[in-house]
Amino acid sequence: MADDAPFPEQRSPIDASVPHSARIWNYWLGGKDYYAPDREMGDQIASYFPEIRENARGNRRFLERAVRFLVAEAGIRQFLDIGTGLPTASNTHQVAQGIAPECRIVYVDNDPLVLAHAKALLTSTPAGTTDYLDADVRDPHRIVAAAGKTLDLSRPVALMVCGVLQFVPAGVPDVEDPAYGIVATLLDALPPGSYLVLTHPTSEVRKERMVAAVRQWNTGGGARMMLRTPGQVHRFFEGLDLLNPGVVSTTLWRPDTPDIGKSSPIDDFGGVGYKS
Ligand SMILES: C[S@@+](CC[C@H](N)C(=O)[O-])C[C@H]1O[C@@H](n2cnc3c(N)ncnc32)[C@H](O)[C@@H]1O
Repeated sequence: MADDAPFPEQRSPIDASVPHSARIWNYWLGGKDYYAPDREMGDQIASYFPEIRENARGNRRFLERAVRFLVAEAGIRQFLDIGTGLPTASNTHQVAQGIAPECRIVYVDNDPLVLAHAKALLTSTPAGTTDYLDADVRDPHRIVAAAGKTLDLSRPVALMVCGVLQFVPAGVPDVEDPAYGIVATLLDALPPGSYLVLTHPTSEVRKERMVAAVRQWNTGGGARMMLRTPGQVHRFFEGLDLLNPGVVSTTLWRPDTPDIGKSSPIDDFGGVGYKS
């Protein structure tokens, strides 16, 4: 496990008094790794935006379907999962190694609490490997260098960037949004045959209510987040072959057979792209 990250503002010890994105997310997912301020903030947002729990769960189920597709149909055996979140049911390695035990997974997150729970992410099958890197997505060169110790970067890798780039703000008007450069740097390090799986919150579905929920989130004192439009999410896949059905609400991305025609759209949009 590597632990020599820069970004000192992210390096504070676990602070239970300030709501934190990974813990609120865990609360919404029905987990148990959160503190009272996380629950309070989670409830506050859910009180006028109850679909937020569905957003969290819908995003997670998309991740599972995408990993299943990549292993079972696309033959992928290596994953770089950035913005992992707290361990929950069906973590990437469990889904992937459940199909192909030899899969290798590197998890990356910058949350000290996720680091503290990383043991649960490191329960690899004997045939495969899992590793955890305590790093910030804004440091893609360091992530690539460290991931290369576990993954063979001359072979295809699925880059997972699910529900994390909202914490990389666009910055000032007329200055290039740094999130695109981060994804491009990560993809540049991966060979043809690799995939990008990316999700991001939007306000496309719930409009002003989603905007209000984010405003509320940003009063919490934790990492600030921003929304991007579906068009801006689409731009992350530029230069890749975007798989059907494209960038859509994650609930509508290749739903499992029992859910076909039953899933409602949510404000998390995403897709899967192929590097040819
Ligand atoms: C909303 S959760 C998403 C979890 C999981 N990927 C999913 O889709 O269910 C966001 C995760 O991104 C992590 N995160 C936030 N900002 C980050 C950053 N700058 N670098 C790395 N991880 C970050 C948080 O700690 C949290 O675990």
